[in-house]
Amino acid sequence: MKITIKELYRRKKLVMITAYDALFASLFDPYVDIILVGDSLNMSFYGASDTLSATLDQMIYHTKAVCNGAKRAYIVADLPFGTYTTKERALEASIRFYKETCADAVKLEGGRERAEIVRYLTQNGIAVVGHIGLMPQFSRSEGGYSVKGRGEEEIPKLIEDAKAIEEAGAVMLVIEGVKEGVAKLITSQLSIPTIGIGAGRYTTGQVLVWSDMLGFFEKFKPKFVRRYLEGGKLVRESVEKFVSDIHSGNFPGEEEIYK
Ligand code: KIV
Repeated sequence: MKITIKELYRRKKLVMITAYDALFASLFDPYVDIILVGDSLNMSFYGASDTLSATLDQMIYHTKAVCNGAKRAYIVADLPFGTYTTKERALEASIRFYKETCADAVKLEGGRERAEIVRYLTQNGIAVVGHIGLMPQFSRSEGGYSVKGRGEEEIPKLIEDAKAIEEAGAVMLVIEGVKEGVAKLITSQLSIPTIGIGAGRYTTGQVLVWSDMLGFFEKFKPKFVRRYLEGGKLVRESVEKFVSDIHSGNFPGEEEIYK
């Protein structure tokens, strides 16, 4: 049965994973609560060095693909960088997701300064997931990626950001790259579920990027990633075997030919 936001609110622990295509979405769909079509696809799938060049058309294409593979999980799609600089632009982009894909919600990065946009989308019938803490779409303006909540002065700001996004109507909040204690404090002060990535153990749910979690993305491994598969290694070994089987005449064999 399709998982709705009401059903997510009934669940105590939430599991979110990213997916960018129908094949992997169909593999993850029976197990997870939420599939995120994250703009991280611009890095791990497209090979760019950050998420900023992801386009709306690209995100819609991948969301459609995920919708073809996943029939059960709640689907969240990232609004890419530059598509929610005004509330009107944000609504236009979100309406495209609702009309052209099966996305249940859109996700956008930012705190208090985005609250009015979250409110406007919500008032217009769009479910919004917030994203605070380390926000990859700010990596160029901030000069890289850094864990938030380490300085005492950052903590009240993060809490205010989370509360402003919830108060504006967001259905869920992703907290990325935040000290465990701070993410715990935020979670305890909100009534919407929080989904952590590099935010410790006390958020309502956890999310990992699929290619990190399955060991296909090998350029670097952030501290918070646990690899459940050495995907890259397995692929290399398998392709090596395929090549050597062809060279040795071992493939195709008797059972792989038409007679
Ligand atoms: O784009 C993405 O995959 C994300 C996750 C890191 C939460 O936003």
